[in-house]
Formats: sequence, C-alpha cells, structure tokens
Amino acid sequence: MPVGIDDLAIYVPKLYIDYKDFAEARGIDPQKLEYGIGIKKMALADANQDPACMAANACMRVMKKNDLNPQDIGRIYVATESALDESKAMNSFVIGMLEQVYGEDSLEHAGGIECKFACVSGSYALYDNANWIRAGENGDKSAIVIVSDIAKYDIGSAGEYTQGAGAVALLIKNNPRLLAFDEKVASTIIKNEYDFYRPFGKETPLVNGVYSNLLYLIQVRKALEAYKEKAIKQGYIKLKEGESITDHIDYINVHLPYRKMGEKALAYLLRHEWRHLPRWKDITTHLKLDEPIPKDPRGTIESLLADTEFMKADEKFRKEFMKTTYYREVFDKKMSSSLEASAIIGNLYTASMYMGLRSLVEFEFGKGFDLYNKRVGFGSYGSGCSAMVFSGVFQEGYKEIASKMNLDKEIGTRTKISINNYEKLHSNTKKFDEAFLSAENEFILVSIGGITADRAGFREYCYAS
Ligand code: HMG
Repeated sequence: MPVGIDDLAIYVPKLYIDYKDFAEARGIDPQKLEYGIGIKKMALADANQDPACMAANACMRVMKKNDLNPQDIGRIYVATESALDESKAMNSFVIGMLEQVYGEDSLEHAGGIECKFACVSGSYALYDNANWIRAGENGDKSAIVIVSDIAKYDIGSAGEYTQGAGAVALLIKNNPRLLAFDEKVASTIIKNEYDFYRPFGKETPLVNGVYSNLLYLIQVRKALEAYKEKAIKQGYIKLKEGESITDHIDYINVHLPYRKMGEKALAYLLRHEWRHLPRWKDITTHLKLDEPIPKDPRGTIESLLADTEFMKADEKFRKEFMKTTYYREVFDKKMSSSLEASAIIGNLYTASMYMGLRSLVEFEFGKGFDLYNKRVGFGSYGSGCSAMVFSGVFQEGYKEIASKMNLDKEIGTRTKISINNYEKLHSNTKKFDEAFLSAENEFILVSIGGITADRAGFREYCYAS
C-alpha cells in the first residue's frame, strides 16, 4: 500500500516587509532583491508569535480541513531549527496548545519528537514517519509532520534579505490523496561543515554565504547521484542512450532559502547531468562557450573557491546557460510553479521546500496541467550539512486538494510593516501584549517565565478566538 502526503496546511504570519522599503533602508538596488535574490515580501512573526504557535496553527488547520479527531493521529513530529528550549521538545508545546481546543489529554497517545538538522530535518522526519506507517506500527492512525521556522539574520547582513517565517503541517498516511513516496530511493549525504550554524545562546546564525551556496549545490548533486542509482535499480526510471534522469522527473522541488537559489540549483544539476550527453555539444555550440574546467581536478569546495579565475568564468557560463531555451524549457515546465510562494513569503528554513511543494501544486493546477501520475523529485538541504534526495508520484486524489488551494486566502489579509517597526520586532523590544495585529482564531504566545523562579522559561499560549 503506498504511503505519502495525504494533505497539507500552511500558516504564514500576516506581517510582512516590502522589498522596496527594505532596499531603500539598506541602500540596495531593489532590482537586486527582486531579480538577484527573488524576493518581494518577507513574512515576519509578530511580538506574540513563535515557531511553536505557528506549528500548532498549521497543525490545527490540517486537522480541521480533514475533520480529524485526536484519535486519528498517532504521531506529531516538529522539525525546526528555531528551538525554544534545549530539552523540552517543540511538539510538546504544540500538543499543549491543541489540547486547549480538543480537550485535556486528548493527544496523550500522539508521541513524537522535535527534529533538528537545519533545513533538512523535515525530510528526515517525513521519511521516518512514512516508514513507521509502512512497518504497520501505526494501527490505523496517521502521522503529522510539522515544519516550522523563523529565519532571522543580523541587521545589515547579506542574509537579512533572505528572512521569512511560517509553518507547514503534512498529513502522512496510507493511500494518500496527494503524493505517494517512491520506496527505497531516498538518498542522503552528510558532512561536518560550518557553512551556516547558530551556536547556543545566539539568536541569529553565523553564515559564510558564498560557501553555503556552493556546498548546497555539491551536496544535493551527490545525493542525486545516489538517488539515481537506486531509482534505476528499483525500476522507477529506465535511462535510454543519450537520456538524463532529469528527462524522467516531471517536477523538481528543491530547498529554497530564496527563490533564485532554486533557479541556480536547477542550472547546476542540469549541467552536471547533461555534460556527458550529445545535447551538451549543441548547447556549448549555441553558447559559443566552452564549459570552464577548474585547475584542481579534485573539485573540492576549497579548491574551487580558491580558483578565482575558474569561479568567475563558471559564473559567466552559468548565467549564459540559464538564458538558453534548453534551460528555460526545463525551468518553466518543471520548477517555476514551486518558486511562486517563496517570492512572497521568504525563507522558512525547514518549511521552505514544503511550501515549494504547496506552491507547485496550486500554481501548476491553476495553469491547467494534470499532475496525476507525475513524478516530483525533492532536493532537500540543511546546513551543517546534509542533503536528501527522494521522490514521489501525484495520486488521483490530488485534484480534491489542489482545487481548494488559494495561497492568498490561506495567508489572509497581510499588513505591511515599516522598517522602523520591523527593527523593533527584530530587537525583541516589543512585549507579547504589544503585537501589531490582533489575533483571531489562532494560537498566540502570552507569556514566558512565570512570576516565581520555579516557572522560569515556562511558555504559555492561548487560543485567541
Ligand atoms: P549577496 O552578497 O547578496 O550576493 O549574498 P550577490 O552580491 O552575489 O548577489 C546575489 C545576486 O544578485 C547575484 O546574482 C547578483 O548578480 C544579483 P547571481 O550571480 O546569483 O545570478 N544582483 C543584481 N541583480 C539585479 N540588479 C542588481 C543586482 N545586484 C546584484 N542591481 C547570499 C547572497 C545568498 C549569499 C546572502 O543573502 C546570504 O548569505 N544568505 C544566507 C545564506 C544562504 O541563504 N545560503 C543559501 C545556501 S545554504 C542553505 O540554503 C541553508 C539555509 O537555508 C540554512 C539551513 O539549512 O538551515 C540558509
């Protein structure tokens, strides 16, 4: 029996920063943000919101949408890199919030953990929960995997225009309506790296931006290599002479720290996959450019970055390649719809790729394409670092889900915030009762730490109706 994603729900905070205001405040050309990064609006958590209440809001939405009772759910996992406590897991806060609505102890049977590995942990959580169901450990219950994060960078840093906030809750079950995972193909790569990390006690990450971009590409490519071998062995894909695996994957959905990263990842993967095929000759002839070769044939990330001549020539080649119809056709057909949400929400860390899936389904369906039986390949990446490549096939029931999707409606009426007010939120000087928006039908944070010392660190939430 196939296992996969039956349905999903999102929660995105309604406050946002407009890219033009941001560009003006930081003295950046707005075109760089709109086209170089691919951002127009960055979602921002209000003073009374945190990743746990966003996770609970997304979870309740997926439960309500599907008329699920607590008894229908056997596991709730939360994948996040915005942990609130060194010991207490975020799913325990989520359970506490949901039980305010569904009744005391109503979810006591729904075990789970908080998962951490930067942006990739949601994919590991999905894989583990799918296997829990495949193993028959679930009885007749479903699992919910929630990915929830606030991407927050230092003011004035290059990461500041890749912020965002939001959560996605994924309902995992047998015979899913939306997408069934391909079995025995998920492939992972892992390496001890310091491209992006957040030491204990630090609210914002330490980032080596250029290094992180290249590492993301290399690691996802390596995971794709491993995936390719398994997908061929399992018989999902049969490669004929001159074909590439990318010819057999209908949609490509990758981790999106910002929209442009998706476009660049596609270019990198296509170059790698096509380089040895007859079509590459046509492409380089058309470009009147040879693909640059690094001085050090080992091609390690350090040797590549040190080879400035190669890096410059390679960037030029990549940009020219991205203008060709060879690239554009694949981009338009296989990736473009998955990037729509990223441009108006921003980075969601763990949730980014799953918001990308949400975006793919809504916008591709909206364009009139039938997704049934189409295969989507996922390229998940988490700094530190690990990549996971896996795939799934859209099921017949997807139409029921896709036809009801409406990103604008699901986010709700949004409020643009001034850069001055954004900076107040960023510096955490606003108290919970000084939120910019009044909450309605959602969980909010009402206090941290009681009046007595024995309640230090207690987080209290309520459902604002
Ligand atoms: P930057 O300094 O803005 O980079 O940093 P840039 O100067 O190279 O500019 C970016 C693009 O804007 C370039 O285009 C420029 O040409 C273009 P590209 O060469 O890429 O095609 N540009 C313009 N375009 C139009 N008009 C203009 C103009 N000027 C320039 N006037 C960087 C960008 C992403 C490095 C930075 O924002 C950063 O450090 N972000 C945080 C780290 C990050 O997102 N890394 C991504 C890979 S790692 C990852 O995804 C994991 C992560 O999600 C964390 C996790 O796993 O938990 C981050």
